[in-house]
Amino acid sequence: TKIPLRQKSIVLIGFMGVGKTSIGKAVAAKLYRDFIDADQVIEEAFGMDTTEIFQTYGEQVFRKKEKEIIHELCKQKLKIISLGGGAFLQEEIRNICLQKCIVFYLDLSWDSWKDRISLLIDSRPVLQGKSLTEIKQLFLERKAIYQTHHSTVQTDALMIEEVAEYIVEALK
Ligand code: S3P
Repeated sequence: TKIPLRQKSIVLIGFMGVGKTSIGKAVAAKLYRDFIDADQVIEEAFGMDTTEIFQTYGEQVFRKKEKEIIHELCKQKLKIISLGGGAFLQEEIRNICLQKCIVFYLDLSWDSWKDRISLLIDSRPVLQGKSLTEIKQLFLERKAIYQTHHSTVQTDALMIEEVAEYIVEALK
């Protein structure tokens, strides 16, 4: 069944640590809607955090669960949903989100992002053991995927509240 545009959930994508969760919460507050962090739902399903899921079961098991959960979340109306940075690498996830939801890509330049690495490294298994050059390559590869077909919000010069405001305005 087709969801009317105004009832569609909003999905936020982008690289790890660009602020998908904080911005998602701010958008949800402005629109009086519920916020859902897809990674948190995955962590609750396993009863452990992402790093432990990767260590215990491996990335593939995480990705499979990620796909199932996002599939279910996208069926809901009027939600604000933030996805993990790797979710949009899966074609099925891209398709379901684009079909059922309104997708915003939160873009941040490499120069701004790289200052956040030390804050992220401990909780992001995908970054662990990689050199800065390798991380930059991953960042740029993924940017190409995120950018395709979605509304981009360039966040370098904006505060969380400003990004949220931009998204709310873009919906009007
Ligand atoms: C991942 C990003 C993480 C989390 C997992 C894998 C990725 O989410 O889903 O560690 O592959 O980029 P955030 O983007 O919220 O950090």
